[in-house]
Amino acid sequence: MKTMSKIRSIVSGSIFAAMLALTACGGGTATNSTCPTPAITYAGFGQTFFANYCTRCHSEYKTEEGIKAHLDDIDAEAASGPGGTNTSMPESGAKPSDAERMMLGQFLACEKL
Ligand code: HEC
Repeated sequence: MKTMSKIRSIVSGSIFAAMLALTACGGGTATNSTCPTPAITYAGFGQTFFANYCTRCHSEYKTEEGIKAHLDDIDAEAASGPGGTNTSMPESGAKPSDAERMMLGQFLACEKL
């Protein structure tokens, strides 16, 4: 009996963790964007994009390293590409155009290389 309840609490614990992960990520989809040639760079695009639309709420995106630590999350919240268009972020204020969201997806793909 003791073993059964232990197993049950391990199982319900992992379901809880999975639900938490889903809520935190807002349910966006991977855009499956690819890095074009020439590549879209931090200096040429990323820095300005994040300064215009994100850093007033997310100070962690003020550096390229900070962005690199969240590539998949950012893609699923704000980028556009063959896999879909995600518009959860920015949640208020000035919004990027669809073309800018597409460039964001490509930029994030370049940052992964
Ligand atoms: C007006 C403030 C605001 C702006 C501007 C904003 N965000 Fe957010 N963002 C939030 C808040 C608050 C949360 C956490 C609550 C939520 O998920 O809704 C969040 C959550 C996120 C998450 C989810 C983190 C996770 O746990 O997965 C990502 C990714 C994100 N934002 C990216 C962006 C990007 C990229 C931009 C710019 C295009 C942006 N945000 C602009 C306020 C903002």
